[in-house]
Amino acid sequence: MRKKITLIGSGNVGQIVALRLAEMDIADIVLIGGVHMGRTAGRALDLAEAAPIERYHKRLVGYTGEFAAMKDSDIVVISAGIPRRPGMSRDDLLGMNTAIVRMVSEKVRELAPDSIVIMVTNPLDAMCHVAYDATGFPRHRVIGMAGVLDSARFATFIGMELNVSIENIQAFVLGGHGDSMVPLTRYTTVAGIPICELLSEQQIDALVERTRKGGAEIVNLMKTGSAYFAPACAVKEIVEAIIRDKKKILPCSAYLEGEYGITGTFVGVPVKLGEEGIEEIVEIDLSAEEHDALVSSADSVSVLVEQIRVMEDVKETIVPLAINMKDQKVHSSL
Ligand code: NAI
Ligand code: 2OP
Repeated sequence: MRKKITLIGSGNVGQIVALRLAEMDIADIVLIGGVHMGRTAGRALDLAEAAPIERYHKRLVGYTGEFAAMKDSDIVVISAGIPRRPGMSRDDLLGMNTAIVRMVSEKVRELAPDSIVIMVTNPLDAMCHVAYDATGFPRHRVIGMAGVLDSARFATFIGMELNVSIENIQAFVLGGHGDSMVPLTRYTTVAGIPICELLSEQQIDALVERTRKGGAEIVNLMKTGSAYFAPACAVKEIVEAIIRDKKKILPCSAYLEGEYGITGTFVGVPVKLGEEGIEEIVEIDLSAEEHDALVSSADSVSVLVEQIRVMEDVKETIVPLAINMKDQKVHSSL
């Protein structure tokens, strides 16, 4: 049977993901954008008109705010939300994007109850929590995209520093998608050689720092939004591993239930991806220092999740209170 992939969010990331997936010709693609954008149908038609040139056969359609179009999707990629601007951290997007991600996740629960969700919207690990909570899906069907991108950035910077082929480099970044991410230098190799054999400690520290700030570096260059080419390719890698049932190990944000001594938090760890989504959380040996860094990164995610809980509790209290006060005012004027 033909597979169906829905991309909720048809902005910079969503439209490039659509093109990369269309080129692979592995599934029908539905692109859904927010109502205020109004350009989604046009973008999808434009992409569909590339089919005779690129020779893809699957259907590609786009809608504006018509969530019903995602019905019975196998995979739903969520990149709906606001990207950051210079001077903002990913965490500054929390309030706005929580509301958007919760709303679209509820639609996913209703219309694509058997799908696998791939979260892209920032702050990434916290948005995975929102989707996990709003869909009620089992943890193997909610996956966050970040580690593939962060590892690709680390590999890029190592390649630049050593002037070697990118094909030689295997880089590995775990942890949350923020300044506390954990580039694992011990597991990062060039043609199988650990990088500590090829680079000084100072050089490695500088590459790690550049990786941690990789998203901000692009935001500061672009000024009007954040990165999208490499992020879209990272999403494509995850989708392909699932659709082709590759059993591929990639760093993704996953909900931990005791793995790495962490419970109740989404954070980036190595996972095996196949047709069921996350088929295994791979536990590798970490040094005490690496483990502490991973736990501290997970703690930063928990802080954001707590902020969401407080924010939503306040909203639940204030809105009925305001309505109640309005009623009282009406009554008192009678
Ligand atoms: P963009 O502004 O180009 O696109 C955002 C899209 O969200 C727009 O198409 C808009 O229509 C859509 N949208 C907003 N509200 C919606 C709603 N209620 N329903 C459906 N669609 C809605 O932004 P871009 O660059 O595509 O980034 C999107 C998100 O992904 C941002 O939060 C960004 O920070 C995040 N991101 C995360 C990465 C990661 O590594 N996890 C990498 C790159 C981006
Ligand atoms: C990045 O790292 C926007 O989080 C995204 O580029």
